[in-house]
Amino acid sequence: MSHNNSGKKFNVFDLFRDLTKFYGILYMLVLAFIVFLGAKYVKTLDYNKLFYAKELLAADTNMRVTLPLKKGSITPPVDVAKLSIPTPELLAKGKDIYNTTCASCHGETGAGNGPAGAALNPPPRNFVNPQPWKNGPKISQMYITLQEGIPNTGMASFSTIPPEDRFAVIQYVHTFNLSYPKDTPEDLALLDQKYSLKNGVKMANQIPLGLAMDLEMLDFDTLKADLNNAVQKLDNDIKDKKDTAVIMLNEIMINKNKALTSLASNTKWNVTAEEFSKFIGTDPLDKGFKASVYQLSPEKLNQIYAYLKNLFVKSRA
Ligand code: HEC
Repeated sequence: MSHNNSGKKFNVFDLFRDLTKFYGILYMLVLAFIVFLGAKYVKTLDYNKLFYAKELLAADTNMRVTLPLKKGSITPPVDVAKLSIPTPELLAKGKDIYNTTCASCHGETGAGNGPAGAALNPPPRNFVNPQPWKNGPKISQMYITLQEGIPNTGMASFSTIPPEDRFAVIQYVHTFNLSYPKDTPEDLALLDQKYSLKNGVKMANQIPLGLAMDLEMLDFDTLKADLNNAVQKLDNDIKDKKDTAVIMLNEIMINKNKALTSLASNTKWNVTAEEFSKFIGTDPLDKGFKASVYQLSPEKLNQIYAYLKNLFVKSRA
């Protein structure tokens, strides 16, 4: 008996087998297509990301933004009672920090005669024979000085120094004059409470401009345009040497790009002259300005404010 499909009787099982084959193949084809599309999509994604990162990097390099990346964090809890006792390790660490961070103004021997402090008014505190204190000589009082700075003087806030290191440097400062008053347990308890040292301290984020824009904290295009225009215009005005405000401004900047970047990324300073003075007077070194900003008279500060406001308004218009 010959087997011949056409001659075969209709069989529901044959049909089922053929259908499964057909749908099997269709299924494979659809799956392959989906995988193909998926791969293509992922490729575009990567490409976009890469392109974006490259652009940011280019922008960053142009502006030579030098702020290091530092994630805002809870600093490790510190034991205030323990750090109030000057161990040799603590003093050695404090000496290192003092010599790299404080000696330029306060002098290596603590006599207030560091080269960077020579022009400051008021002068840096002499730790050996101190003048009357503003916050005070106790550990708990110097800690406040380091946290907040002394407003409108060359003594900026050193809040970026981690708490334990601050104790170390304060302990070292105390070696310059052995008659400094001691903290009472209450003083230390109050300090602990004030800055929540036992539980760790929240430190602010410090991120490079490119990343800030990546995170959409700043409007990339506005900022980039502002900066490029401002840098160019200021460069021209500096070359001109006509505007006294520009000459003064040029003298108080450590780093022009950094200073203008700080200004461009802050929207508050250009509201009033007071806001500007507050802006430039808080952590000037971090913002690309010299500590000598504190020596400017209100009139000079006003002149610089007027110039800068104009510089950014023009570029933003
Ligand atoms: C740019 C210069 C400069 C640097 C750097 C500097 N200081 Fe000062 N410091 C000053 C000036 C100026 C004063 C005087 C402020 C005043 O008389 O109001 C001062 C005052 C002080 C005082 C006295 C506060 C009071 O209660 O009167 C302490 C404490 C102090 N500085 C600690 C430090 C330590 C610690 C460092 C390093 C981490 C440091 N300073 C770095 C300029 C500086």
